[in-house]
Amino acid sequence: MIDLFSQQRHTELCNEITRHNRLYHELDQPEITDAEYDALFRELLAIEEQYPELVTADSPSQRVGSRPSEKFTPVEHVVPMLSLKNAKNAEDFHEFDASLRKTFLARSEELEYACEMKMDGVAIELTYEKGQLTRASTRGDGLVGEDITENVRTIADIPQILTAPCPEILDVRGEIYIDLADFQTLNRTQEENGQKTFANPRNAAAGSLRQLDANITAQRPLRIFCYGIGRMQGATTNTQVETLQHLEKLGLRVNLKDTTVALGAEAVINTFNDLQERRETLPFEIDGVVVKVNDRALQEELGMVSRSPRWAIALKFPPRQEQTIVEDIGLQVGRTGAITPVAHLKPVTVSGVTVSRASLHNWDEIKRLDIRVGDHVIVERAGDVIPDVVKVLTDKRTGKERQIPLPTECPECGTPVQKNPDEVVPRCNNPQCPAQVIESFKHFVSRDAMDIESLGVKQLKQLLDTGRIRDVADLYLLSKEDLFTMERMGDTLAEKLLRSIEASKNRPLSRLLFGLGIRHVGRNTARILAKRFASLDELAKCTAGQLVAIHEIGDKVAESIVDYFSNQEKKLLLRKLQQAGVEPQGEVVIRQDGPLTGKTFVITGTLSKLSRKEAEELVEQLGGRASGSVSKRTDYVVAGENAGSKLTKAQKLGVQILNEEAFAKLTGSVS
Ligand code: IVH
Repeated sequence: MIDLFSQQRHTELCNEITRHNRLYHELDQPEITDAEYDALFRELLAIEEQYPELVTADSPSQRVGSRPSEKFTPVEHVVPMLSLKNAKNAEDFHEFDASLRKTFLARSEELEYACEMKMDGVAIELTYEKGQLTRASTRGDGLVGEDITENVRTIADIPQILTAPCPEILDVRGEIYIDLADFQTLNRTQEENGQKTFANPRNAAAGSLRQLDANITAQRPLRIFCYGIGRMQGATTNTQVETLQHLEKLGLRVNLKDTTVALGAEAVINTFNDLQERRETLPFEIDGVVVKVNDRALQEELGMVSRSPRWAIALKFPPRQEQTIVEDIGLQVGRTGAITPVAHLKPVTVSGVTVSRASLHNWDEIKRLDIRVGDHVIVERAGDVIPDVVKVLTDKRTGKERQIPLPTECPECGTPVQKNPDEVVPRCNNPQCPAQVIESFKHFVSRDAMDIESLGVKQLKQLLDTGRIRDVADLYLLSKEDLFTMERMGDTLAEKLLRSIEASKNRPLSRLLFGLGIRHVGRNTARILAKRFASLDELAKCTAGQLVAIHEIGDKVAESIVDYFSNQEKKLLLRKLQQAGVEPQGEVVIRQDGPLTGKTFVITGTLSKLSRKEAEELVEQLGGRASGSVSKRTDYVVAGENAGSKLTKAQKLGVQILNEEAFAKLTGSVS
């Protein structure tokens, strides 16, 4: 039996991780450090290990990175682009080496490893057919990326034509990055032109690659180091180093100079230490060393496990740290009224970026760190993006430091705050609190919700201040004249804004559901609900019992949804939205009476007629559930070609296995 807490936490983690994936991979605006992200991910994996039935195809554990954006055409990677497992220290690496030798290869002699710099940039794939560059794509979720061919064609480092003799087909993988000096210049130019600056070279590279206008990409100083291959037809190499040499001969840029062949774990650790020393003198950012079994036949033998190859690992450098002083601890009120403490720091440069603020997350964290105003602290930029206070230097205290008590009233509206004993932050429960109102609007118009472009915080504030909008439905009643009351609002911009408001009226139901900001309904839950209910009205009629019957919905979420739809004010808001013409598009609804209702499927291996995604959609259209991992509760495993561990597990558990033909018969999809 899954306990409710775990189920609930699992949904929360899926939502959170998916959101952070998106922030990191697509929007280039990460909100948390790599370490925090890793902690969330580990927690998710721990719950899924305990309750494998919670692993759905949607779970972030089943995906690498994030799904591709709708702005670019999707490109399927013929050979999936995998991710790497991380080793935090020498001990982790020794463990990795020992497990390869003992468990998987049963050999006593040392393994030969290729140690490469782990470039801190963006992974891409280049496809060359008969030597001609035909396609470039981002990694996306590892299976499907985004087509960025036109942008990539503008990068001088990347040849359009390979040097002969070249393989019939070649998929090359590499990292796009920006040199540190070029990054500084780019940010200066951005600033001069009044445009947003980038937090670090990686974000700048990611943002530059994902431009809709290739002319902008062309102006960015993008570089590449190629480090691997997907398909390679018409050529063979025996080792990783030979592969790099071969790529170089074809005219591709590789970093052979900084690649070392190391025999055994000790030699790898020495290389790692050397590179860590050299790190500060390099012209570009690296965040560790990628260690790969050099022999390609052994790589083949080792294969992969879930999202990563078994034959490679990333040995990450510890995060960079600096010392500074806490000048103040401020309070921030979020959309749901949660009040979080933020440290205002004496500005300090951590790996090239000025840090002046760091979230302290909650009062448990304040207690754990025992952080006070005036304290000397160590800050870290683990993901080299969002700073984190990791330690207070209590020896440096003078006695003048000031503790920050739990607030008794909301810093924005003065309402007395409440704190539930099971929560780590106090809350302002005033729905009219200006901070909450603006945050709710920001959420509603955000890209993951109604995606109303060009309606930023400034504009929202002005519209709120002048009373032109009071609730989100008012956005749909705005006229051009209303918009003209805003600062610097010309005809063109006003029309653009009205067009994007209009376009948002028919967004998919899941986006509206997410945008409404119902407590505990994140993006994932909103998607799950939209798959079950054809309309808001249908969902509004549902009881908590009916909601909990949905696999992924727990008690807390169900209760919150029922509360929302029975609240008089919310009812009025929904009616107002409807009257204003907001008519979300229904999504693929999972049938409650379909031929596969109640059955769980796992699709594995390659099918010849359908992609895995299509097969999963077919299952869902017929009322079934598509899951990413096999457990006792799986009803069918559909095994295509090269099905691996999932098939073995299904055989072990005695789960019914279907080949493609049997699946086609069962689903009635035989042509
Ligand atoms: S090999 C299956 N080599 O690190 C092997 N990756 O999670 C996959 N990276 O997505 C990658 N430098 O973006 C490899 N020399 C290198 C790399 C490298 C940077 C990035 C790459 C990948 C991520 C690993």
